[in-house]
Amino acid sequence: MSSRPGTEVKTEPTVIVRPARNVAGALRLPGDKSISHRYAMLAAIAEGTTRLENYSTGADCASTLACLQKLGCRWECKDQSLNIIEIHGKGPQLSAPRTVLDCGNSGSTMRMLSGILAGQPFTSELTGDESLLRRPMARIIAPLTEMGAEITAHDGNLPPLRISGGRLKAIDYSMPVPSAQVKSCILLAGLLAAGFTRVMETVATRDHTELALRAFGAQVDVENKRVSIRGGQNLQCIHALIPGDLSSAAFFLCAAALFPDSHLMISGLLMNPTRARLLDVLTRLGMGISVTQIEEQHGEAIGTLDIRGKALKGVTLSGAESAALIDELPVLAAIAPYTESGIEIRDARELRVKESDRIAVTAANLRAMGARVEELEDGLRIPGGQSLHGAEIDSHGDHRIAMAFAIAALRAHGETRITGADAADVSYPGFFYILDALVQR
Ligand code: S3P
Repeated sequence: MSSRPGTEVKTEPTVIVRPARNVAGALRLPGDKSISHRYAMLAAIAEGTTRLENYSTGADCASTLACLQKLGCRWECKDQSLNIIEIHGKGPQLSAPRTVLDCGNSGSTMRMLSGILAGQPFTSELTGDESLLRRPMARIIAPLTEMGAEITAHDGNLPPLRISGGRLKAIDYSMPVPSAQVKSCILLAGLLAAGFTRVMETVATRDHTELALRAFGAQVDVENKRVSIRGGQNLQCIHALIPGDLSSAAFFLCAAALFPDSHLMISGLLMNPTRARLLDVLTRLGMGISVTQIEEQHGEAIGTLDIRGKALKGVTLSGAESAALIDELPVLAAIAPYTESGIEIRDARELRVKESDRIAVTAANLRAMGARVEELEDGLRIPGGQSLHGAEIDSHGDHRIAMAFAIAALRAHGETRITGADAADVSYPGFFYILDALVQR
């Protein structure tokens, strides 16, 4: 194994963010985290060598690679600056790991890899950092157990997980919570099970697993929020350029939203409709957005985004829209006080079981900056027309909180000191350097 992509950039534990006058520039983003995880996992159980360019530079996707290596899958970083990796597929059967699989901070690694491990004829153990050890796993344990895997967890819910896999049977499963990780876990187990596995969603979640499975040669049928996969299909390696991460771009887009003269151009960006809801919301808030050069690679839409700041109105987010925006809600909340009539977020209970309780932590940090905010059981109500001051912000070890409050700090009076800023490295090492290069002071 050679060193992983992105290791050369490390964020300091504490970062000071000063107010800005404007945001402008052109950029490309490191590869999408969701797609990087999926391509790496599918590459491991495919035949042949998969070549991935612009693999995510975040620690989460490195955790996936480290786990795959312990499962006997070889991979190399071919070019550190372009983040090119080659993964040598082992086919559907991996090797029993000799040590515990450490998923770090990554819920995606733990939940999706569990689907593959449930179909392996050996026992494996998955653990993670302090935050991951608090995240609910009953949501994957229930369907995987129904398929035939034996899984133990703390209180039947919390990691570490011990999975004894083997022959799986297909199931029909109605999703009790909107979660692409859970859907993906079941589809991956379904690929290794006997028969047709069907997953029914009430709220459509990101569809990268469905698209990735097809890219690797499997047949996956999608009809009215019902996804079906036949077990026993073999996967074939691919060569892919991973599109820029739209959830990372969200921080810069929201930074641009704070300044009426801002102008950003982002090329090679993921435009998958199940991920791009933020663009609709920013348009509704009043921003000028145009998307050009749309192309498709392995089923994923990629485009160039041109975005210009305008005065921001307000917006209410609820229902399926909140689910589609789940990773972007913290940064939308962080710019809410600067909008004209505020932002209300409802139906986003899932935010409470992310890397931190993102509802409580966002409310506490906004208050530390002097904002009025109402914490709701399933969201936040944040009035507009407020002015904030710099403050001491705690990321609570959550990458999206660290980055969201760097954006809130750009329009605050005085400096903001973000402790635990290095959490950003989980999804986007280099975030603070790029932000600094884009802002004008
Ligand atoms: C992800 C799904 C979402 C999201 C996470 C990545 C994925 O989690 O919050 O950052 O790649 O499938 P849930 O499935 O828990 O909603």
